[in-house]
Amino acid sequence: MNLFGELENLLSRAYAPYSGFRVASLVVDGEGHRYGGVNVESAAYPTTMCAERAAIFRAVAEGCAPGDIREVHILAHDGEKLVEAAPCGACRQVIAEQSRNAAKVFVYGPDGRATAYTIARLLPHAFTL
Ligand code: THU
Repeated sequence: MNLFGELENLLSRAYAPYSGFRVASLVVDGEGHRYGGVNVESAAYPTTMCAERAAIFRAVAEGCAPGDIREVHILAHDGEKLVEAAPCGACRQVIAEQSRNAAKVFVYGPDGRATAYTIARLLPHAFTL
């Protein structure tokens, strides 16, 4: 499913006054429910939260258990234009755990088309306890 339009709307809610780099993410569970997240920066820079983890944490708070998350969709804007942005390492770790290593990750380009990856490809040999 292409969620480009929905991601574009969500992007306007990103809070990125320091980097100017806005990110929106939509997580989809096995029943088709969507959970949105945006990056939220902080004047204490390392306390910033990425859009993907914001979306996943929201999904978990709404009742998603490990394995429920099937898709993660991502759209980014660098301050001038839409750009493709794959998830950072920290987000890959959380995506792997919450999808039981099975999520598909869709990275959208400026033309609205998405490149699909498996989380297993983006994070081989994920750490688990
Ligand atoms: N960012 C995300 O939201 N997701 C990522 O996977 C990588 C980076 C955000 C964090 C920060 O607000 C801005 O992009 C620049 O790093």
